[in-house]
Amino acid sequence: MQDKVFIFDTTLRDGEQSPGATMTHAEKLEIAAMLDEMGVDIIEAGFPIASIGDFEAVSAIARNSRNSVICGLSRANIRDIDRCWEAVKHAARPRIHTFIGTSPLHRAIPNLDQDQMAERIHDTVTHARNLCADVQWSPMDATRTEHDYLCRVVEIAIKAGATTINIPDTVGYTAPRESAALIRMLLERVPGADEIIFATHCHDDLGMATANSLAAVEAGARQIECTINGLGERAGNTPLEEVVMALKVRNDIMPFTTGVDTRKLTAISRKVATVSGFAVQFNKAIVGKNAFAHESGIHQDGMLKNAETFEIMRPADVGLTETSLVMGKHSGRAALRAKLKDLGFEVADNQLADIFVRFKALADRKKEIYDEDLLALMQDSDTQA
Ligand code: KIV
Ligand code: ZN
Repeated sequence: MQDKVFIFDTTLRDGEQSPGATMTHAEKLEIAAMLDEMGVDIIEAGFPIASIGDFEAVSAIARNSRNSVICGLSRANIRDIDRCWEAVKHAARPRIHTFIGTSPLHRAIPNLDQDQMAERIHDTVTHARNLCADVQWSPMDATRTEHDYLCRVVEIAIKAGATTINIPDTVGYTAPRESAALIRMLLERVPGADEIIFATHCHDDLGMATANSLAAVEAGARQIECTINGLGERAGNTPLEEVVMALKVRNDIMPFTTGVDTRKLTAISRKVATVSGFAVQFNKAIVGKNAFAHESGIHQDGMLKNAETFEIMRPADVGLTETSLVMGKHSGRAALRAKLKDLGFEVADNQLADIFVRFKALADRKKEIYDEDLLALMQDSDTQA
């Protein structure tokens, strides 16, 4: 089995479905260009039937993309699929993604019994495949679908021509062991399963989306569906930056590769935060403001001696120029001395001792000490000398 994991980004489709995260046409094109440039394998550019704006954005992204496969989403009906094809067909490498909810709760909505739904899946996947050589099919709410029925419909979709079968954990309900077992079960039980790619699509309602995605890969999935900053419905989708960096940093125990240039992660995270209006939490893994920041004296001292003491990734690997040693009440003398040196001051031990006392007093009153505060302390120190 290949060790390359395809990265499928759905920031512009599932991500944009977050209430309040709507993006303009120009913003979508800009994000798609960044995704294309950074080595994302498949970009889900939108849901063409949803609106004229979505249709136009998907068409324009399809025309402009140079490397990535461009995918559009469609429900399981002929009109949706045709509209999707009209939008993605301009791409050098188009993909139609069609889905239907297969769990008992979701089957009840269109009021289809198991056989009627199976027939619908056969007909719609066949139709999509007659239009496009690259067809992805998703049984929405797969993780709450009966296993026998899931195997049955996955087999139908493969026989009808689906080349990727995506297994969505639509409501973020699964857990890592179960996520892995589901992929393993499908690979073992479904005829033809070894000829297609299984994808994992996780939501983060219980905070397990990254772990569930990685567990699925270890069990044989070879496509991870994710979004920048984990943007997405409710608690969001699997964050792209987390799975890509996890596979890079822990390649010793998860020997899989992706084609993503991780040095572009910070830039795209900031772009998506700005255009979506969803700020990234400070302590967010990989791209949060504090992900490479250290305030405590022990940590800062360790970092100054050897960055590996408290960092498992190099800031440059995610596109940051440097680690930030934040000056605050937990900082120690070593960090203060290093910071002053950065600002152009070489201080003797007795001067450092004096400044350190005044620095601590200030840090007790102020959350963060900026360069300007340190410059003021140095000025006072010169005046007193
Ligand atoms: O979460 C989900 O089930 C989806 C499908 C449309 C793939 O986003
Ligand atoms: Zn989703």
